[in-house]
Amino acid sequence: MMLITISLVLSLFQQSLASTAFCQNKDYESGALGDFPSQLYNAAPFHPVQLNYALPPAKCPSNDDIDGYFFLSPGSIDTLQEDTSIINADGTLVGSIPGLFMGMHKYNGTNHIATWTGTHEPVNNAYGSGYITLLDDTYSMVANFTTVNLGVGADIHEVEITSSSTAIMVAYLPRRTDLQAYGGPMNGYLADSIVQEVDIATGRLSFSWNALEHVDPSESYAAFGSTGNGSVEYPWDYFHINSVQKQPDGNYLISSRHCQAVYLIDPSGTIIWRMGGKKSDFVFPQGLEFSWQHHARIHNRSTLSLFNNGASEWQEDLPFAQGLLLKFDYSNTNKEVSAINARNPFSPSHRCSGDPSNS
Ligand SMILES: *[C@@H]1O[C@H](CO)[C@@H](O)[C@H](O)[C@H]1NC(C)=O
Ligand SMILES: *[C@@H]1O[C@H](CO)[C@@H](O)[C@H](O)[C@H]1NC(C)=O
Ligand SMILES: *[C@@H]1O[C@H](CO)[C@@H](O)[C@H](O)[C@H]1NC(C)=O
Ligand SMILES: *[C@@H]1O[C@H](CO)[C@@H](O)[C@H](O)[C@H]1NC(C)=O
Repeated sequence: MMLITISLVLSLFQQSLASTAFCQNKDYESGALGDFPSQLYNAAPFHPVQLNYALPPAKCPSNDDIDGYFFLSPGSIDTLQEDTSIINADGTLVGSIPGLFMGMHKYNGTNHIATWTGTHEPVNNAYGSGYITLLDDTYSMVANFTTVNLGVGADIHEVEITSSSTAIMVAYLPRRTDLQAYGGPMNGYLADSIVQEVDIATGRLSFSWNALEHVDPSESYAAFGSTGNGSVEYPWDYFHINSVQKQPDGNYLISSRHCQAVYLIDPSGTIIWRMGGKKSDFVFPQGLEFSWQHHARIHNRSTLSLFNNGASEWQEDLPFAQGLLLKFDYSNTNKEVSAINARNPFSPSHRCSGDPSNS
């Protein structure tokens, strides 16, 4: 009887740890707290994820920019947190706003929060179709926009706001395609990856690009069946666009997770070069090739960063994900890529110790 009471008290206590982030909590890591530990509040209806830091940002010795807040919307197959948590560097929750966090952006000269709301791909929440809103510094909505004349709305992976008040968005469009050459049905569907640049105030379309016109599905590393069954509601996601960055010269850098490549596109849509993947115009030293990456950004004509996942849901190439900072030649005259830095965020030297919530 006594034991039962104690375990009841403990489990309630666990839930009331709501405002404290864990650090290397073994029960969390083992799954003992469930697949999706979340925080509960008596006075508010939201259930933000319970964080479990490998290293709390406030203790990170290499991070001296810890005065501000962190904005995050964790999302995965099991996690459906359709709002943005605003947290202190120590992990305590400051507030929550509706919609998934899409970054902080300058719009008409001042900072705005971008959020996304919409519907997700039905099986893995791997992409979506919806609207992007911009909130000003009073959290008031000043814009609500999406793709134009497409039939599907803006996806969750990317939005860039340009200094000319346009938004660059991506979208996933099911297209009826003969997939027999790729192991699928004759009357199948694939998910084409779309880029649009749209004037936020007027909705005028100034740039539109689709992967299928320029990149053959044979460039994909996601074989038919690994992602999507070729139906209209679950099309084969051969390209999986996940970032776009407009360059100062008007070109666009596009990241394809499933072709494991980044593409430089000119304003007419023509591919200038590919980096990575099956038809790379660049040469990588052994061990530096990236795979299943996200968030490719060129910083200047000799530096490119990306998040190298090193794994997909069905294949593991690296035992960890890493940030990669690469030296390269934008003009592709020099075809050698080299590493400036390759940082594995979960290396042993980056672990914290002595946190009271360790267990
Ligand atoms: C932003 O600037 C554009 C172009 O000048 C203008 O049309 C639009 O109304 C502005 N939006 C806001 C919210 O100030
Ligand atoms: C944005 O516009 C769409 C279409 O009108 C609407 O359904 C949605 O509710 C709007 N979003 C917000 C946050 O108002
Ligand atoms: C494909 O997957 C979707 C989503 O899970 C499902 O509704 C549909 O029945 C499947 N179709 C086939 C032909 O397997
Ligand atoms: C490009 O950016 C990197 C990283 O910020 C810097 O180390 C390098 O000096 C820059 N190169 C040029 C040519 O500006």
